[in-house]
Amino acid sequence: MVLDVTGHEPDSFTLPGLAAGSWRAFEAPVRPVDVASFRSGVTRLLVASDGSTTQLLEASFTGPLSIKVLRQTVTPSVHSTLKDPAQLLGLPAGAPVVSRYSALLDSRGTPVTLNHVVAVPDPDSPMGRIVTDPSYGIGTALASQRIEHRRQLISCGLADWPGALDPASAVVKTYLIWRGERPLMYIRELFNPDHVSAWTYEQPPPVATPDATRVHDYRLGSSDDEKQRLLAQTDLLRPAAAALFERLPLPEGARALDVGCGPLGVLDLMSEAVGPDGWATGLDTDERMIGWARESVAGLGLANVGLVHGGLPSPQVPDEGVDLTHCRLLLINNLRPEELVRAMAAATRPGGWVAAQEFDWASWQCDPPHPAWDRLKALIAEVFGGDVHVGARLPTLLRQAGVTQVRVAAHAYYWRPGDRYQTLLPHFAGLFHDRMVANGACPDTLHALTGALREHLAHEDTVVREALFVQAWGRKGATTRP
Ligand SMILES: C[S@@+](CC[C@H](N)C(=O)[O-])C[C@H]1O[C@@H](n2cnc3c(N)ncnc32)[C@H](O)[C@@H]1O
Repeated sequence: MVLDVTGHEPDSFTLPGLAAGSWRAFEAPVRPVDVASFRSGVTRLLVASDGSTTQLLEASFTGPLSIKVLRQTVTPSVHSTLKDPAQLLGLPAGAPVVSRYSALLDSRGTPVTLNHVVAVPDPDSPMGRIVTDPSYGIGTALASQRIEHRRQLISCGLADWPGALDPASAVVKTYLIWRGERPLMYIRELFNPDHVSAWTYEQPPPVATPDATRVHDYRLGSSDDEKQRLLAQTDLLRPAAAALFERLPLPEGARALDVGCGPLGVLDLMSEAVGPDGWATGLDTDERMIGWARESVAGLGLANVGLVHGGLPSPQVPDEGVDLTHCRLLLINNLRPEELVRAMAAATRPGGWVAAQEFDWASWQCDPPHPAWDRLKALIAEVFGGDVHVGARLPTLLRQAGVTQVRVAAHAYYWRPGDRYQTLLPHFAGLFHDRMVANGACPDTLHALTGALREHLAHEDTVVREALFVQAWGRKGATTRP
């Protein structure tokens, strides 16, 4: 028998701020971690506590939480593993169990926890009624109905969070709820890593080593999430990029280079700029990015675009140099922008164009201002892996590389709640969490700052002024040497 309170049986679920998750997310294997190994005091408290997680979460930072039951079934239990929930409840194989998948949501509807409850079906007892009532979380209902019970921790550790960059990046705990002498419920709680720090003492902190090898270290990674972010950003920046290419007239059959092309970048515009007799090449040091760029180029049918895994200098560059060398959001992620711009100029023929498009974080601010914004922005800038104000330095960088007739343009953007970029700073706070901690930041402070900032950015009156998007271009002087 399958009773489904949601009225249907979808293969997966979707929740705001979460890549579509499959039900496996509720049962993914746990990598055991000792409670004392979690660096965050809040995490240790949540994991070790034998009280209501909902109340602890609400009191610590999230504010009021609501429950959303995603699926609820009554099925015969199957004893598959040693720690099978039904077995832990002392039920024989084949006995019916209630299985409930739910999420605790914050005020914006973002999941703070994903929960799986397995319980003995007993509609006549208060405990049994709680588990089949989709309007309350278990902890809240037990507390409000003053039902005597005790919790027994079974395991804690790390497990996958749907769509997260790294595997086993979320804290998970499993426990039994006993009433008298009987265990009546098994509960597994998986905590959103944006809310509950999963950083442990077992994980060695990444060491910031500002050496030459870092030139190729793109710290935002090449996850599916980052691919989607870059493609969305490409759409956003397309009008500005198109305006730039209009300012760079190219000869018939021109050859152009895009350094750090990402999953598409400007390759479609560059293909148009070089024309059917010309040739554009996208370079990227990340193999996955090149794979995605191949898919984009094939999908758009761009017959005059080639892709090469690697950076500059590149054997793909003809001896005489190309007519245009371009980069977008490459220098901001690199510790040696001077070297890259010099390499770009070296790849360009005398008289050819060198062009760069980069952000300058100086203007990136929310209005009304908020201290959490300033603090997080400063902490992230320290570990970003490049100069976040490099946009402002573009004219000088080009001139120092022997580029002449340098021109500059800039574009500004504003966001409001609901826009993708409204929450980019807290998104970065998640991506750079471990690096900030390795740099000395306290996980609990980061957590509190991120929570407070998300709250502020969700307010209908809060707008975000984007970092200034700066474009600079010029012609390689005849005398420039590599
Ligand atoms: C922020 S992404 C920008 C992608 C693309 N230009 C765009 O505007 O969407 C930066 C890209 O540069 C690549 N990258 C980083 N350092 C590089 C280097 N030294 N040479 C070539 N590619 C590099 C990264 O792998 C990443 O794909």
